[in-house]
Amino acid sequence: MSSSSCRGFATMAIRLALVAVVTAGLGCCFLAPQAPAGAPRGLSAPTLGAQMPEAETDGFASGWAPLLSLGAALGMLFGLAVQPAKAITAEQFSQLTYNQVRGSGLANRCPTVESNGSEVPVKSGSRLINVCFEPKSFAVEFETDKGKEFATTKLTTRQTYSLAFVEGSLDPNPITFKEQDGMDFAATTVKLPDGQYVPFLFTVKELVAKGEGSSFKPGFTWGGEFSVPSYRTGGFLDPKARGMYLGYDQAVALPAMQADGKGGQEDLFKETNKVFDLGKGAIEMEVNKVNQELGEIGGVFVSKQPSDTDMGAKAPRTILLKGIFYGKVVNA
Ligand SMILES: *[C@@H]1O[C@H](CO)[C@@H](O)[C@H](O)[C@H]1NC(C)=O
Repeated sequence: MSSSSCRGFATMAIRLALVAVVTAGLGCCFLAPQAPAGAPRGLSAPTLGAQMPEAETDGFASGWAPLLSLGAALGMLFGLAVQPAKAITAEQFSQLTYNQVRGSGLANRCPTVESNGSEVPVKSGSRLINVCFEPKSFAVEFETDKGKEFATTKLTTRQTYSLAFVEGSLDPNPITFKEQDGMDFAATTVKLPDGQYVPFLFTVKELVAKGEGSSFKPGFTWGGEFSVPSYRTGGFLDPKARGMYLGYDQAVALPAMQADGKGGQEDLFKETNKVFDLGKGAIEMEVNKVNQELGEIGGVFVSKQPSDTDMGAKAPRTILLKGIFYGKVVNA
């Protein structure tokens, strides 16, 4: 990330009036949850294969050759692992085959935008398509003696946490995007430093994002609220086979609800009475690159949303996500 987008993050965090600790807690530039593969596996494998035999056939003493080639191979692997993620534009994405994308982590990445021109105008009845949200950091709010703080987390979900091909209507003055369709939710789990797992449904469902003006240009800020559906659906059965519309009403071998009406009954009730919680989230975005010719916009986002509630059994945690987004404006 360039330092300018870092600054973008910081100011956005302030604009959102998120706790001041956010910046301190997360650092300015987020740490990639899992270093994305430097290059798609399908692309890098042949390179690796082509170089390894060469290293082995070098004119070194036979005793050293295996060690050296191992070293070379490790060096190469390490080199690949720490290589910064290459930026891939939507056009380049569209030219990759299934096998080049498969297993590479690329399907989880948002396209980048190559600057061209100074603004992308929005006309009445336009659409924003191929919208992508790729979180780069995940933080969870928790209570301390000093108040609320955000803990950085470790991502435990594999490379399947981005939202992609989201689309909706787009109108100018003020620019208003109404989310309608796409891969707009991704079940994600992060792990807190104390080992606690926090599942949440990363989403922008029914997002209505607004920003002043009638064109996207670098520095343009917009945002709005979205709905957060339950992490689990009604058919989910808990470990005691209790569910919302399926399964048992009460856990077998647990004291029945009516037993005494005293301690522990409330927790038991919450576990037993499954509900499909609907939450609200908010997102702020800042455009930092536009491509006038292709109608593409790209930038950074900060989003805040509730976590899973285990179908009503637990209080939701607040998740703070920071990342990058992409979208393409198509005028009718
Ligand atoms: C935008 O792209 C078009 C087509 O590639 C090119 O002709 C034009 O010079 C570019 N404009 C800028 C400002 O880079």
